[in-house]
Amino acid sequence: MARSRTVFRCTECGGAAPQWAGRCPACGEWNTLVEEVEAPSAPAARVAPVSTPAPIGEVDPTEWQPRPTGIDELDRVLGGGLVPGSVTLLGGEPGIGKSTLLLQALASLAERHVQVLYVSGEESAQQVRLRAERLGALQPSLWFVAETDLAHVIAHLDQVAPVVCVVDSIQTMTAPDLTSSAGSVAQVRDCAARLTAEAKARGIATILVGHVTKDGGLAGPRVLEHVVDTVVSFEGERHHALRLLRAVKHRFGSTDELGLFEMTEGGLVGLPDPSKLFLADRRAGVSGSIVVPTIEGHRPLLVELQALVTDGGAGSPRRSAQGLDHGRMSFLLAVLQQRAGISVSEHDVYALAVGGVRLVEPAADLALAMAVASARLDMPVPDDLVAIGEVGLGGELRQVGQTGRRLAEAARLGFTTAIVPRSTGDAPPGVRLVRAATLADAVHMGLTAP
Ligand code: TYD
Ligand code: MG
Repeated sequence: MARSRTVFRCTECGGAAPQWAGRCPACGEWNTLVEEVEAPSAPAARVAPVSTPAPIGEVDPTEWQPRPTGIDELDRVLGGGLVPGSVTLLGGEPGIGKSTLLLQALASLAERHVQVLYVSGEESAQQVRLRAERLGALQPSLWFVAETDLAHVIAHLDQVAPVVCVVDSIQTMTAPDLTSSAGSVAQVRDCAARLTAEAKARGIATILVGHVTKDGGLAGPRVLEHVVDTVVSFEGERHHALRLLRAVKHRFGSTDELGLFEMTEGGLVGLPDPSKLFLADRRAGVSGSIVVPTIEGHRPLLVELQALVTDGGAGSPRRSAQGLDHGRMSFLLAVLQQRAGISVSEHDVYALAVGGVRLVEPAADLALAMAVASARLDMPVPDDLVAIGEVGLGGELRQVGQTGRRLAEAARLGFTTAIVPRSTGDAPPGVRLVRAATLADAVHMGLTAP
């Protein structure tokens, strides 16, 4: 019999090294190597083959039809729903709402008499029942078990025969028959591989919950990404109710869709019209405020940008950018000074994207620069104006992608004027385009426009 051996495995890339080092020799990350005992044989190899070759024309196309969960924003990201036999990894920080989302999705399926199983290795049956009660999820077709032993979980799959199964979380699962140590990257990977084999063999759509590490990656991310079909990440700012769901990898569809939710007392509520929500509390006529039509995935979103400029004290001026890229803001402040003659070198500058959105696309450059200019000069931007455009080092404005969709969304929400780069095409009905070649022109026209 082959002897097991000790290796040092990287928690980031899964690469193995024969001895410990401060830096992973495979991916170059620091302090990611952990000791583990490597199994003499790969456990996934023990699963009997369940596939049968067939002429391509005889393959049943309906077998891969997604089944809607009934949670629209989730179905949007999944490209329609959950594909039978597929494995989806749902990643997100603790407390972001992963368990809540999945409980709601299972309840929605169970409501339509679809047999579903929720396996929790994190919470007791009582805890989950209480939550289910609050969410209106006490459905007879929703089965629950608190379990961490993978062999038992697989036995429960036989007993309940669910159409959809949730395992919350993959990091809490253990398989005592595996030689990898509990909680190690290797064990998480092996458990995921085994569950994947079971899901494929039985046609169960399986969702694994995955914790993210402090720097935002799923624990052992690349390892798990290879094992599963779909990776979905659930994000949001801790102090905001807004939650964003996006596909990072998707074998059955596009990764461009974005799902939006609001965390409420009654669980997660889909946001079919987020722009309206983002602008609901906007105060008209205040300097430093401007609206930018941004695109998240395929979705146009109107987001308010705000800037505040104050006299700086002694020492170097403060720069604060929430939901925005710091480097991009410094860049825009430099261009404002050199190319538009608006200097904030003696001032503190605070800027933020309202509503907990992260706004990092260059299409927001012009709006951010105009917000700072408006705050610095204390001249408000007209309420019905939006700004779109990328700013170059020479102070020139450049066209951005999907301008038509951005403008259409602005028109839908009642904006009548858009400041855009000179080369922009035609506007949709209801929007007047103000074309500007440079940032200086845009500031001049935007802050003095009637
Ligand atoms: P949870 O789903 O447990 O997060 P995760 O599984 O990602 O760790 O959600 C936890 C947070 O959500 C918790 O702080 C309370 C909040 N919450 C609500 O605001 N409303 C609700 O209806 C529920 C169930 C949770
Ligand atoms: Mg949870």
